[in-house]
Amino acid sequence: MPTFPRDQWYVAAYGREIGHELFSRTVCNESILFWRTQAGSVTAVSNRCVHRRFPLSQPPSALVDDQVVCGYHGFTYAADGRCTAVPGQTRIPRAARLTSYPVVEQDSFVWVWIGDPAKADPARVPRAPWLESPGYATVSGMEPLRARFGLLVDNLLDLSHETYLHGGYIGTPEVAATPITTEVDEDAGIVYVSRHMDDAECPPFYSKSTGLNGRIMRWQDIEYMPPCLYTLHSRIAPLGVLPHDDGTDPGAFHVEVVYAMTPETDTSTHNFWAVARDFAQEDQSVSDFLAEQNRTVVLQDVAALNALEKSIAAEPEGYQELSINIDTGGLAARRMLAKLIERGSAAPSAAKG
Ligand code: FES
Ligand SMILES: [Fe+2]
Repeated sequence: MPTFPRDQWYVAAYGREIGHELFSRTVCNESILFWRTQAGSVTAVSNRCVHRRFPLSQPPSALVDDQVVCGYHGFTYAADGRCTAVPGQTRIPRAARLTSYPVVEQDSFVWVWIGDPAKADPARVPRAPWLESPGYATVSGMEPLRARFGLLVDNLLDLSHETYLHGGYIGTPEVAATPITTEVDEDAGIVYVSRHMDDAECPPFYSKSTGLNGRIMRWQDIEYMPPCLYTLHSRIAPLGVLPHDDGTDPGAFHVEVVYAMTPETDTSTHNFWAVARDFAQEDQSVSDFLAEQNRTVVLQDVAALNALEKSIAAEPEGYQELSINIDTGGLAARRMLAKLIERGSAAPSAAKG
């Protein structure tokens, strides 16, 4: 059973990571070569020369204008993967072409389509508009995980772990103590998990960034669009301060915590994280604080999930875990992922270059 679905859009990188030089990253077991063309668009092709498999990201392979020249024997490829030159002959074999991946650059992310390119619809790339919206200030990063993608999905769909794993940062007793509501929109492909704490302790992550102290209202509304994109809409307000009937909410602080979860291999994952806020946007000290805090929190998750992956590797066949009420969001996400995996494996994609 595969651990992630194909025929899906996945975040491969932040746009800022890809410039006019060769960059590679493995996504869903496929090593992909990226560069930004002179026209400014991001290109994605397989990172394996069709001649003798030399990784095109590895020196002395080089980018010459908008073509990559293999560092082993000089096969040369254009941005669309077409081979434009081979050594010692003028005839270029028809099969000399790198697999090219559909790419969309949006909301600060570079998305690639993993699967059958004929099924890629750029209009269906999930959105995280806050990350580039002028109304928000954003900090972001990426931490590699030596654990399977599904463990990160479980982790983010059940925030009760904040109380225990992230105490002193974002965890307070109320997170684990407050029940959640879970809803699934099968047609839209979204899992919603909400936890509204109407009288909660303010953890340092929010007290130091917003200036609120003592008891607060803290609402967590999760929207997960399987497989890759997750947003936690976090609302922080003084006790009793509610949004207006027209939906505006001037009395509250809003933080959009965005994760893009991208399988690297069957047992490793790229964990992209971003924190966008609609307050203190010009205050660099708040940006620095939230970046440092969130990275610390992410690394606490990374350490825990790396340990879980080791437990899984060592466990006997047929081991059964135990689920309780806090797991309804994670279980809904697993069911949706299982359907996507089934659908994606029903029509395997064309051979990989
Ligand atoms: S391996 Fe690339 S040219 Fe031979
Ligand atoms: Fe966590």
